[in-house]
Order: sequence, then C-alpha cells, then structure tokens
Amino acid sequence: MLIINVVTHTPTLLSEAKALAAELQLPYSNSIEQTGYSLILTPDHLCLQHNTSKSLPLKIDFLAGKSAYRRQHASLKREALARAMGLKNNTHPKIVDATAGLGRDSFILAGLGFEVTMLERSPIIQALLADGIRRAIADPIVSNIAKRLHLISTDAKTWLTELPATERPEIIYIDPMFPTRTKSALVKKDMQIFHDIVGEDPDADSLLPLALTCATKRVVVKRPRLAPHLANMTPSFSQTGTSCRFDVYLKTK
Ligand SMILES: C[S@@+](CC[C@H](N)C(=O)[O-])C[C@H]1O[C@@H](n2cnc3c(N)ncnc32)[C@H](O)[C@@H]1O
Repeated sequence: MLIINVVTHTPTLLSEAKALAAELQLPYSNSIEQTGYSLILTPDHLCLQHNTSKSLPLKIDFLAGKSAYRRQHASLKREALARAMGLKNNTHPKIVDATAGLGRDSFILAGLGFEVTMLERSPIIQALLADGIRRAIADPIVSNIAKRLHLISTDAKTWLTELPATERPEIIYIDPMFPTRTKSALVKKDMQIFHDIVGEDPDADSLLPLALTCATKRVVVKRPRLAPHLANMTPSFSQTGTSCRFDVYLKTK
C-alpha cells in the first residue's frame, strides 16, 4: 500500500492543497515525511515525488520536453498514431483515449486538431493530468490545443459499458501498461514513479473486446514492438515503428 501525503510550501495554496487532499482522500502534511510519496502543490505545478529515492518527480507539462517537441513537429503523415487511426484533415471523428496516462498521445492528437475524450482511472494520475491541462489552457501557446482535451476520471470499462449507443466514438485508443521483465531495470528514470503508482494494468486484455463492441470504426492498441497481441486477438493490420507497434482492429459492418 503506497503512502502519499499532499504537501504545499506556499501559504497561499494551503486551502487548495487541503481541498485536493480531501478530494483524493489523502492526508495533508505540512512537510515531507520520512517515507512514501508527496503530492506537492507549487505555484508552477502539481508534482509527485518519492520522499527518499532520487527518482525524478512526476509532473505533466505539455509545454516542455517530448510534448513540446512533438507538437512542433507533428503532422498527420509523420505521426504513426494518426496514421494508425486513419485520421484525415477536415474530419471530426470522436476519439476516446481509454488509457490517458500522462496524456502525451492525447496531446499529440489534440495538437493535430482533434477533440479527445481522455479516460484515466488512477486518481493520482488524473489529478496530475488535470493540473497539466489546466495550466496548458492558461498558456497562450498551447491553450487551443489543451481545450480539445476532455478528461474524465473513470475506469474505461465502466464508462464504455454505460455509454449510450448514440454516443459511441468512431475510434478508441488503448495503451495499457506493459509488464517489465525485471523489477525496475527497464523503466526510464522519469517513469519510475509513474510505474510505482499505476502498476501493471493486469486487466488490460478485457478492455479490447469491450472497446471493439463500442467503437464504430476502429480500435488502435499500442504495444511494445515485439509484444504479443493484446488479448491474443489478431489485428486487421499493424504498423511497427522503432520503439512501438500500433495494432489496428477495424470494425466490419
Ligand atoms: C501506459 S499508460 C498510457 C500512456 C499514454 N498513452 C500517454 O501517452 O501518456 C496507461 C494508463 O492507462 C490507465 N488505465 C489502464 N487501464 C485503464 C482503464 N481500464 N480505465 C482507465 N484508465 C486505465 C493507467 O492508470 C495508466 O495511467
């Protein structure tokens, strides 16, 4: 069981930090504890840090790093995900990212002009994502992109099961966690905390058949390049890149 305290060192953010702690049903603490993790609210971001290890704090910043680079260089042709989804200019398919995670893939899709409904079931990751989106909306450079992201805190299986038939999306995207072979050796340093919090999505296999009943056009699954197919289901086709593979399941009428 992970121990996580909500902390702020900024007096003006105290009531916001306490409200967040209450919402997440976590204890509020005035200072960093000796063990566990701290969800720290600062004027610049919300971040999750391990209290004793040297792993990098986890925060979602769509203006920096990979997200910024991909936003500047993305195009429908260049982005393998957009090709796997069959996205075309001047079309407006309903896209559901059923495993939103750090929002990187959703942000790319939004950067290409598409509205994305993002589903995330981990309350901590959901809080980090909501913070990243809120700050991106406040930034003039990415505001319009971030406004196309619609985050829902839910388990995708529950949400898809309850979705009325009239609201079914054309495209559902699934990118579950993939089990690592050794405990943490294969996890990049900045992703260590993310893996600690989220775990391994052992129920990922059951999401694909459900997504296939809900999507009206296709389901796209992201996998490590050499990984077996999700739920042992053979896709209509796959697109393999340098580090990952997109398995595409087309709906036949
Ligand atoms: C590998 S990450 C996704 C990364 C994401 N594609 C990105 O670009 O940042 C998987 C995420 O999906 C979430 N997840 C897994 N199964 C889910 C489900 N059934 N419903 C909602 N979220 C789910 C996990 O909590 C985790 O945050």
